[in-house]
Amino acid sequence: MDFYRELKKKTIDDKYRFHMPGHKGKKNTVPDIFREFVGYDFTEIDGTDNLNNPKGIIKKLQDRLSKVYGTKKSYILVNGSTSGLQSAILSQTKPKDKILIQRDSHKAIYNSLILGDIDCEFIWTEYDTSLNLKKPVDLIDLEKTLDSNDIKLVVVTYPTYYGICSNIEEIAKIVHSRGALLIVDEAHGGHFKFSEDLPIGAEDLGADIVVQSLHKTLPALTQTSAIHVCSNRVDILSLESFIKMIQTSSPSYLLMLSVEGALDFMDKEGRSNLSKILEHIRKLKNSSNKEIFLKKSYIENKYSCKYDETKLLISFYDKGIKGSQIKDELKKQGVYTELWDLVYNVAYITPADSIEDITCLFRNIENITVNKPLEGNRDIEFHKFKPVKKMTVRDAFYKNKIKKDVKNLENEISGDFIIPYPPGIPIICPGELIEDGHVNYIKRLIDEGIEILGVENDLVTVLRTRRKDD
Ligand SMILES: Cc1ncc(COP(=O)(O)O)c(C=O)c1O
Repeated sequence: MDFYRELKKKTIDDKYRFHMPGHKGKKNTVPDIFREFVGYDFTEIDGTDNLNNPKGIIKKLQDRLSKVYGTKKSYILVNGSTSGLQSAILSQTKPKDKILIQRDSHKAIYNSLILGDIDCEFIWTEYDTSLNLKKPVDLIDLEKTLDSNDIKLVVVTYPTYYGICSNIEEIAKIVHSRGALLIVDEAHGGHFKFSEDLPIGAEDLGADIVVQSLHKTLPALTQTSAIHVCSNRVDILSLESFIKMIQTSSPSYLLMLSVEGALDFMDKEGRSNLSKILEHIRKLKNSSNKEIFLKKSYIENKYSCKYDETKLLISFYDKGIKGSQIKDELKKQGVYTELWDLVYNVAYITPADSIEDITCLFRNIENITVNKPLEGNRDIEFHKFKPVKKMTVRDAFYKNKIKKDVKNLENEISGDFIIPYPPGIPIICPGELIEDGHVNYIKRLIDEGIEILGVENDLVTVLRTRRKDD
């Protein structure tokens, strides 16, 4: 409440605002819904501190964040984990360095390659055709890739959008033994710290830098995130320079207030609610006779990994029902899931949910009946087509490009990311050869109505020259 209390005091003291923002905190200048809090939308003036050079109330809030997560230092981000991941990667590398990233990484990580003139190798997590899920990072594969390349930095995602948690402890040992640094994209794991029934946060498992979207799994406003420094290996001076460079110079006090609010909520009721929720999910899964819910123990044994149960995976694919059909059925009952793909819907559960909400979610899932089951090919063939890299992402990004119809993409080199959204993970990156298998997969996603960034009106950006024989 310290941050809120200080700002509240400021709303009283600051009677004549001759500073930004232009609304001057006046209720009559903003739409009705903003009236309650427009007065708190401050800028950096005496007493409100400065996120880019925190010494007062913001520093105190960051120190609290660091204490909660048990880190060496933590920073509030108001431009999402996107800004955190990019600051982390750019600050710990130099142009022309090579880093190792999970292929199923978020686009924010790929964009760092362009911004920092960095090359990359991939960790290709294996696709499990029985569950249609990507497995955790294979440690032997990781070792081999590190041993055959000069890698400065490794970036892994923990948990994935689907709740799969790789073995960060072992990954950290392997990465550090090769003298490299480990950044963990924990965008979907900011809640781990608040329950012993959840996987342990990467900040306690040996990661050097951890980036979390507080807005995803905690009750904080959209765009709020955190970057945590967890070891002495991190070049903190460089990290701070990049955070200041990449983030806005006018950080929103409302967003920062919501970070404090989320921590207060977790202290007061969120932590205990999370335990109740997890217990309730297990009870509902055990009592369901429909065998449609993947149990934690099943996934954990099958993949020898940890699993985040707050990402509820809903699939009737083996009964011939597609992800889009489940989405449509749930929508009829007013239930909207976070993500849907060919197979799954992912219901995103957070400490803000109630036991009643979750009971209702399960009841609606169990009641799904679809009259017209899926016809034709049910195989997800995408995993069979690894793209061939023809040049670095950055080199391709700066080449001349043209738009081509999806039907005529075969053997072209992509000039853009082609990304189903969500989850925001590229099928193809700039500089990669587009093959038959990719084209079929892209067409299938379009037919299913899945939004794909990089495909607009059936047109895709490719490099101007055809490079089949390269
Ligand atoms: C795995 C992963 N990392 C990073 C991000 C970027 O996070 P933000 O939206 O907070 O910038 C996302 C967003 O969906 C994500 O799914």
